[in-house]
Amino acid sequence: MTAQLIDGKALSQQLRNDVRQGVATLKSQNITPGLAVVLVGDNPASEVYVRNKVKACEDTGMHSVLERHGADLSQAALLERIEALNQDPTIHGILVQLPLPAHIDAQRVIKAISPTKDVDGFHVTSAGALMTGMSGFWPCTPFGCMKMLESIGYSLKGKHAVVIGRSNIVGKPMALMLLQANATITVCHSGTQNLKALTLQADVIVAAVGKRNVLTADMVKPGAVVLDVGMNRNGAGKLCGDVDFEGVRQVASHITPVPGGVGPMTITMLMMNTLLAAQGSVGA
Ligand code: GUN
Repeated sequence: MTAQLIDGKALSQQLRNDVRQGVATLKSQNITPGLAVVLVGDNPASEVYVRNKVKACEDTGMHSVLERHGADLSQAALLERIEALNQDPTIHGILVQLPLPAHIDAQRVIKAISPTKDVDGFHVTSAGALMTGMSGFWPCTPFGCMKMLESIGYSLKGKHAVVIGRSNIVGKPMALMLLQANATITVCHSGTQNLKALTLQADVIVAAVGKRNVLTADMVKPGAVVLDVGMNRNGAGKLCGDVDFEGVRQVASHITPVPGGVGPMTITMLMMNTLLAAQGSVGA
């Protein structure tokens, strides 16, 4: 079997069209959805990410503000900026790019963002809403993964989903979303014994560790669906995921490539969340 590719680029374009339409509708009511992106310091990877987020806003017709601060910005000053953005009626979503410099407590900063503007879905209120099945913002990467499964018409009911990785940004929320869709879930991590025995039982595998070749063909049940959240570089400096793509594609029924898989979905789901935040602000 050679797996079908789940094309994140094409799917994210489709979803962006929906976002564009939603933005146009709000604009006709004199509301322009607005996203504030806050960058502290000069981490080169973060520079690329925030530039792409601002570009996506332009692409979908949203207003965006990029706030750049030096690495020496104090935590108190950052909290003041967040509060100002909380109060700003032209801003519907606030994203503080992570990682933050070591002298700043990231959890404290995320907690300062109004839950109504928490388009990253990182606030404890958003996490609690996801955990209890209430409405709230879903973190963009696992939200994108759910959209990818939906795009292939995959029913998770009763399926065994194995998530490799337990981060607050991907692994944990991913597991909760899959659970909410009635899958049986297993969450694996660095302390898991015999990972292969677990992944071999999986109908769906989400790899979100940040390490090459965490998942190889011998660890995958024939016909499983494999989503690769990893973003790594191989020996030649080429972008690759957590999954041994060439091997696993011979066994899986569907697989996401890297690049062009989960990555493009993440920013599109951020746009979707910002639109939802703006719609929420007018009771749409
Ligand atoms: N750094 C890496 N990924 C993300 C993300 O999704 N959101 C934020 N705020 N920072 C990040």
